[in-house]
Amino acid sequence: MSGASAPGKFILFGEHAVVFGKPAFALAIDRRLTVTVAEAERTELNGKPFGAAGNSPYVEECLRRVEPQGHLRLETRSTIPAGSGLGSSAAAAIATLAALDRQGRLREEDDLARAGFEVELAVQGRASPLDTSTVTHGSGILVSPERLSGHLWEVRRGEKVWNLHHRSIPEADFVVGFTGISAATGPLVAMVHERAAREPKVREAIEEIGELTLAGVDALQHERFEEVGELMERNHALLTLLGVGHERLDALLRAVKPYALGAKLTGAGGGGSIVALTEKPDKAAEAIRAAGGTPIPVRLSREGVRRHG
Ligand code: MEV
Repeated sequence: MSGASAPGKFILFGEHAVVFGKPAFALAIDRRLTVTVAEAERTELNGKPFGAAGNSPYVEECLRRVEPQGHLRLETRSTIPAGSGLGSSAAAAIATLAALDRQGRLREEDDLARAGFEVELAVQGRASPLDTSTVTHGSGILVSPERLSGHLWEVRRGEKVWNLHHRSIPEADFVVGFTGISAATGPLVAMVHERAAREPKVREAIEEIGELTLAGVDALQHERFEEVGELMERNHALLTLLGVGHERLDALLRAVKPYALGAKLTGAGGGGSIVALTEKPDKAAEAIRAAGGTPIPVRLSREGVRRHG
């Protein structure tokens, strides 16, 4: 038996814009998804045959790509709520690839992160390497078209170049609030792509998100938390302009506002979750619950993928 686990993540700045090659920033969290692999009579996933309804398309895509010899039984366990925008798909792709990698071909972080990105692309149609790189490496990951300090690796796709950089985790408290509405990432990314092709104001918003991401990461690293909060609010307004907002997200943002330095949707949107930067995490969590959301306590984590057995 072998296995691997990978953390979840949340995006602090730059989701969607990063698919267009703009800067973005994500942080790994202390919730994890674990995959174990054992020899079996037939290939199955959590007791169901390969291809059965309800199986993770990310795990199945990994199996399709790795083409293991013989049949395997895969079991997944997770403390990352699925569909909440906290990276359960990226964690599933990275943990599955690492667990299936018996020859050690994906032992280097960059090879594993690139392979995970290909899995996300195959399932979603369009994607950036932000989520898969963050859950591979842990800590904070800043993506940008330029090479900056703390450079880890680059990922290329056509004309787009994403440079992935390590950033240390800040001394700050974040609270996530899940709306309970899970929206698939692929169609949201495709919708933003179509709107960007038609509407100049959407293209301008994407540019501005890229710029505010770099300002936000600088503010975070220098502990200018009020500025971070203001930039989170602006990022949310721009994401709403892209069309990925939702009234339930806005209700949670209103509820958390008295207790937060700033808050925004995190991940693909269309539902999913908000993240708040707060000095009063308990009060922020209570406010999320009172507004009908599910508070998800998250702690930042240095740890990326971990292999067992
Ligand atoms: C989803 O967590 C983040 C998006 O930017 C898509 C991606 O980067 O692949 C919406």
